[in-house]
Amino acid sequence: MARKIVVTSGKGGVGKTTVTANLGIALAKMALRVVIVDFDFTLNNLDIAVEAENNIVFDMFDVAENKCRIKQALVQNKTLPSLFLLPSVAGKGNMSECAVKTIVTKLDEMFDYVLIDCPAGIEEGFERSAKFCDEAIIVCTPHLASLRDADKVAAALIKYCLNDVKVVINRMRGDLVAEGKMLDAFEVFSLLNANPLGIIEEDDTINCTGYVEPNDNTFDILANNLHNGATDMIDYLSKHKSLLKRKAR
Ligand SMILES: Nc1ncnc2c1ncn2[C@@H]1O[C@H](COP(=O)(O)OP(=O)(O)OP(=O)(O)O)[C@@H](O)[C@H]1O
Ligand SMILES: [Mg+2]
Repeated sequence: MARKIVVTSGKGGVGKTTVTANLGIALAKMALRVVIVDFDFTLNNLDIAVEAENNIVFDMFDVAENKCRIKQALVQNKTLPSLFLLPSVAGKGNMSECAVKTIVTKLDEMFDYVLIDCPAGIEEGFERSAKFCDEAIIVCTPHLASLRDADKVAAALIKYCLNDVKVVINRMRGDLVAEGKMLDAFEVFSLLNANPLGIIEEDDTINCTGYVEPNDNTFDILANNLHNGATDMIDYLSKHKSLLKRKAR
């Protein structure tokens, strides 16, 4: 049995695909069997985030239409053998609820973690992704529009009676927090009344694919929190303490 987790957000572009890909990588580095699933049928790009776009032969629609077995559609990661991608493809329309259920059930038997990348918002794509999961990760940024929408997602998730809903704050800027221009991460968690999974800083080293360089341990901390129930948070603020002091003077 896998932990089946939907990675969701209200607002678009806040980092769901980045979190799904890099959390998948970090969990696979812990020798866990992980599949990342692209349930964003319109703006699918999870394959790019794990540099697998040239290795796709079949996609999940081929599985749903019995054109191939699920194992044939899974793309194994080049460097992490326990990480797989189940790709999607745009332009093939939608998938029946029954097909989604069959796919998730098959993955459940094969992996320790099924991480589902979800389209933004609380419409059909969100419903499809959340329905067969038992946990959710809400990704938001420390901006008011993102927080308001994250709150709506949290409310929309209630009907699925999930075992756990956790929040990741992405694109934190310690310099802006120190200058009083951005909400502190713990204010964000408290505003959302949320169970924190982690904090990710705004990161200039994220390359054009969305893949984080391996020497960054941000996602290792998130994976450890998720898998082992730790509660570690990166210290995004102390290196900006001089700004804090200057402001206080
Ligand atoms: N912490 C970060 N620092 C810098 N850039 C980031 C960070 N997180 C994500 N990004 C960049 O922001 C952009 C949007 O991220 P991503 O595609 O993961 O968002 P998304 O929530 O999946 O978007 P969509 O709603 O369109 O699916 C990408 O170009 C990504 O590389
Ligand atoms: Mg995305």
